[in-house]
Amino acid sequence: MEINGQNVFITGSTRGIGLAMAKAFAKKGANIVLNGRKPVSDTLIDEIKSYGVQCIGISGDIADFNQAGEMLKQAQTQLGAISILINNAGITNDKLLLRMSAQDFEEVLKINLTGAFNMTQQVLKPMLKARAGKIINISSVSGLMGNAGQANYAASKAGLVGFTKSVAREVAQRGITCNAIAPGFIQTDMTEVLADKLKEEVTKSIPLQRFGKAEEVAQAAIFLAENDYITGQVINVDGGLVMHG
Ligand code: NAI
Repeated sequence: MEINGQNVFITGSTRGIGLAMAKAFAKKGANIVLNGRKPVSDTLIDEIKSYGVQCIGISGDIADFNQAGEMLKQAQTQLGAISILINNAGITNDKLLLRMSAQDFEEVLKINLTGAFNMTQQVLKPMLKARAGKIINISSVSGLMGNAGQANYAASKAGLVGFTKSVAREVAQRGITCNAIAPGFIQTDMTEVLADKLKEEVTKSIPLQRFGKAEEVAQAAIFLAENDYITGQVINVDGGLVMHG
């Protein structure tokens, strides 16, 4: 798909990987919907507009089906049909399973996995009609290899992989692709909170010996949006941490 002129909705795009993707798509000439739970700042909107594209900020909680639908409606009214959806918003709430409450588990699943369902289910109709569209889900290496202290997060991210493959099969005949990106350790607010010692240990275990940059994840999203013959795949952007057999 030619990205120039498309309308892209990126959930959780007020910072980190989501914001890096917003900039990368804007550079390619796409109009951007920035989204976060809190209102999106005018400074951020102006920054994206400086690439010569339209940009709107729509705040709301993707974990709520009705709010997700309302946000999509608002975006479509202001920009036109959304042709690229990136399900990026996600949270962590790490603790060992024995200390994890049902609420700790459910909250992470509700945002990371149900949130992607809420958005995808409601963005599809116009894509099906147009016989074109791209859905990109941001999973994680945790969902592929597991991670102690992240049973909730890993379950949500593994769930996204199954979701991606199923949706890909359902919509392929209509020319829509659905893929996932599994980032490894990327420098953002989410990983900033990790203890320095853990960061050092993790770095040693990464073949490329460093954390990734949000821009490097954004590059993969651009690649998946531009390609029309890749679907149902998980692309790792992880410095070689997980290597598929
Ligand atoms: P971040 O914490 O910096 O940003 C998350 C964004 O999601 C924020 O804009 C926040 O407002 C938004 N958000 C959270 N809950 C929301 C909700 N219910 N509704 C709407 N927006 C919501 O996170 P980061 O690091 O940029 O991660 C982005 C995605 O990449 C997440 O899905 C994360 O799980 C995934 N990821 C990140 C990795 C990393 O090392 N940073 C590694 C693997 C995956």
